[in-house]
Amino acid sequence: MKQLFAKKPLAMLLEEMKGENRLRRILGPVALTSLGVGAIIGTGIFVLTGVAAHDKAGPAIIISFVISGLACVFAALCYAEFASMVPVAGSAYTYAYATLGEMFAWIIGWDLILEYAVASATVAHGWSHYFQDFIGIFGLKIPLWATRAPFDFNPVTGLMAPTGTVIDLPAIIIAAVITIILVKGIRESASFNATMVIIKLVIVFFVIIVGAFYINTANWTANFAPYGWSGISFFGKTIMGQTGLGGAPVGVLAAAATIFFAYIGFDSISTHAEEAKNPRRDVPIGIIASLLLCTVLYIAVSAIITGMVPYDKINIDAPVSNAFKQIGLPWAQLIISFGALAGITSVLLVMMLSQPRIFLAMARDGLLPKNVFGSVHEKYRTPWKSTILTGIFVAILAGFLPLRILAELVNIGTLFAFVIVCAAVLIMRRTHPEAERPFRAPWVPFVPVAGILTCLLLMFSLPEENWLRLLIWLAIGFVIYFGYGRKHSVMHEYIESHEHESVHK
Ligand code: ALA
Repeated sequence: MKQLFAKKPLAMLLEEMKGENRLRRILGPVALTSLGVGAIIGTGIFVLTGVAAHDKAGPAIIISFVISGLACVFAALCYAEFASMVPVAGSAYTYAYATLGEMFAWIIGWDLILEYAVASATVAHGWSHYFQDFIGIFGLKIPLWATRAPFDFNPVTGLMAPTGTVIDLPAIIIAAVITIILVKGIRESASFNATMVIIKLVIVFFVIIVGAFYINTANWTANFAPYGWSGISFFGKTIMGQTGLGGAPVGVLAAAATIFFAYIGFDSISTHAEEAKNPRRDVPIGIIASLLLCTVLYIAVSAIITGMVPYDKINIDAPVSNAFKQIGLPWAQLIISFGALAGITSVLLVMMLSQPRIFLAMARDGLLPKNVFGSVHEKYRTPWKSTILTGIFVAILAGFLPLRILAELVNIGTLFAFVIVCAAVLIMRRTHPEAERPFRAPWVPFVPVAGILTCLLLMFSLPEENWLRLLIWLAIGFVIYFGYGRKHSVMHEYIESHEHESVHK
């Protein structure tokens, strides 16, 4: 029992940072913000906006972006406080270890796999959509069997159905390529990332500026919120708003829960705290700056797309580039498809970079096998074995599971992690009021409490089966924890040796 709730002392965390076998400290505030933007703008805005506007919110998706962005701002302030206190790799996992104890830390660490590895698979799908859109402009096509996952949600029946294909081959190929780049090292990854980020920002500005000339305000005013303003369900029972096909909630909140995916990634900056030159100052800057920038851009892009095209004509595979095709600018479609590809690639890069770093933190604590997840490559100084394992996992999921299911699973898992981080800030202020906090979240307890409530609200706006999937995922995690982690935990040895000493005194 004692071990389940054993907390990792702050001093121990900071002491560990001085040890050997560390990652290289090369990232400054601009590089960190760029990693953040790199992780944020991708499949969410370029792909999921389509489904959310078309099936869940209509033009009111603009408000969905505001709501979801707000939930993220609350969570980001809490992340920033933690990242400045405990600037070690591991993100929310490490914060939970310091505040809520080992079992919660494990739950979060396990849950973060949903956020990073499963999100990578989702993003790889988005990449595949734009890749196919891009080559399609030149009249090229890949064989049908290799275009998407073998089954998907059918919006007409509201049920899962075979798609007549076998595998999403482009998604698998991009996951493999990124894995190879990542094994080689972060310096190379950071500069590759910077180039991709610049390309995608240029494209986003292009969409906003050029698209603004093609807005027809009647598209907004005719029916701004066709699916209503809410969309909350409680374990399958709609308690506010309308219900769509398949029984899932629809409306502004339901869309907010879907496009929440677009914001995921700002917290990945905190997994790079160990590679930051001045983590206490720069990690909070990176988290908040990248999130605010993306929030503003998202609101603008969603306003432009819904202004250009009637919501029920918005394409659900490649909505942004397709909007330009619909208004008769095929050259713009080409540019946007290319930019989206670059942008989505950089998301994949950061997500797949973050996952092995969380494994690394968990392996150092003994919760995962050290020889696999804790080994840092002699020459490249990267966690190469877990990077390759992550790559394989991502490729398999991306090849065979549909985007919608993956995205919703990622969202519920990440929202859950945000709830715990917000709660942990509240707890830490009580238990360690004296700890040095180079960045303090403002208006505590309002900010963490609002973070918890808004994230829970979004969790209840997702289709019900996601709760079940989350619980199954956590149950698998428990089996691994009790079968392996608990016995091999460094804290376990620490507690045992202390008890041993006190018996002998
Ligand atoms: N926010 C990231 C994306 O939209 C995960 O692709």
